[in-house]
Amino acid sequence: MNRRTLLALAGGASVAVVAGCGGPNEGGTGTMLESRLPLPDAFKVPLLIPPVAKSVRRDDTTDYYEITQRAAKVEIIPGTKTTIWGYDGIFPGPTFMGKAGRRMVVKVKNELPVPTSTHLHGGVTPAGSDGFPTDLVAPKGYNVHAAHTGHGGMAMNMADWKFHDQAKDYEYPMVQRAATLWYHDHRMDFSAPQVWRGLAGAFLVTDAEESALPLPRKERDIPLIIGDRSFEADGEFRYPSLDSTLTKPGVTDEWMSGVFGDVILVNGRPWPFLEVEAVRYRFRLVNGSNARRYTLTLGGGLKFTQVGGDGGLLPVPVEHGEITIAPGERYDVVVDFSAVKPGSSVVLANTLGEGRTRDVMKFVVTRAGQDDSRIPAVLSQVPKLTREQAVATRQFDFRLLGGKWTINGKPYDTSASLASPKLGTVELWRFTSDFHHPVHMHLAHFQVLSRGGRGPGPLDGGWKDTVDVRPYEVVEVLAKFDGFQGRYMLHCHNLEHEDMAMMANFDVV
Ligand code: C2O
Ligand code: CU
Ligand code: CU
Repeated sequence: MNRRTLLALAGGASVAVVAGCGGPNEGGTGTMLESRLPLPDAFKVPLLIPPVAKSVRRDDTTDYYEITQRAAKVEIIPGTKTTIWGYDGIFPGPTFMGKAGRRMVVKVKNELPVPTSTHLHGGVTPAGSDGFPTDLVAPKGYNVHAAHTGHGGMAMNMADWKFHDQAKDYEYPMVQRAATLWYHDHRMDFSAPQVWRGLAGAFLVTDAEESALPLPRKERDIPLIIGDRSFEADGEFRYPSLDSTLTKPGVTDEWMSGVFGDVILVNGRPWPFLEVEAVRYRFRLVNGSNARRYTLTLGGGLKFTQVGGDGGLLPVPVEHGEITIAPGERYDVVVDFSAVKPGSSVVLANTLGEGRTRDVMKFVVTRAGQDDSRIPAVLSQVPKLTREQAVATRQFDFRLLGGKWTINGKPYDTSASLASPKLGTVELWRFTSDFHHPVHMHLAHFQVLSRGGRGPGPLDGGWKDTVDVRPYEVVEVLAKFDGFQGRYMLHCHNLEHEDMAMMANFDVV
């Protein structure tokens, strides 16, 4: 870390400095990385909706899928080609449709030049299929001794590394309720550059309760994966890796606090537009950005009606004029375009952005439409966890210490475990921070109990797995350790912080 960055990071008053050329208002902790080509005009390219993954085989209990991670050249900035790394060579990858109670096995084949680990974010997954950062699928002929010894002050134990030769079966039992999940790369030290290159996609789980609701469905139920990127003059992705072959980890000092791109992509397209009818739509908002937070608003006085969060349906719908979404978080919302005059349009904007990053995408209302959808007054029974149910209280402090991103004062140690909650219990976990840190737990879903000494914020409702912890804030959550025993993790979902050791293990016992 160079002195300027260190000085900038040294005090809370300097958060604006950290945001650097992105301006104090860009949201999150990070530094703007400017593209080296002229940025395309907004709202000129149509939104792409990723294809739905198809099973290759099924038996009584299980649907089997196969997906290949590979490089491909695609047109993102009109008139140029970008090399992406995608699941099945597309960015975002195919959308998986899971069904509660129906097991899935996904064979991930790796044809990239680097190891990968696939994590189902929000998944209740056996530990061996959780996409642990050192549980890797190695490419053909990969020299496992090339696996380096960590950075950001991490402690590494080679015994914790596992290399699967070219493919691995990930088992997803789907012992969970309907929810908007997403999957992405989780390779030790390299999640940030590998997700930046495209290794992410949506994963929707349905169940009987959710499919009985009259919410908009089919082509009116659309995942919107929002991510910022920067581009080189020739259209390739720009990212400040120390080593573009992704053998030696790390980014240049200036971007240690996180990388903000200056092009906003939705489903891999820059500032796209989507033609809609004047009816209700359901959008699965996913923040797939490395570091950028967004405060999303709709033009024309429209509001979002939130029906779900990270962990599925809310008890009742909640209306929001704006939604702040941190990296890793999801909001499941309904937008009603029925009051919009056909021929006019509605911009989805980001009020945390400046200049071009204030725009996200545009909805063009083409015509009136038939709509038999409804937003029911009651969505789901969600048992409310109480403080009294917690059998233990633990504190996790997310902080920059001595130039390292730490949890409870320590950079990640592949072998250490910071907690051993018992399967089936509820614990109170208290997160404290210096900067913006989106705190994410694997396996366990939680409910926000308090934020800054008050009750949960308007966007904290329902079950969650990622919570936006703001500078010098204390957030208490009640986590339920359901599903499986084994080793899982807790980390900051600012992917540059994650890569630079802001992770910890816990063991469900
Ligand atoms: Cu989406 Cu461990 O992360
Ligand atoms: Cu996760
Ligand atoms: Cu962080």
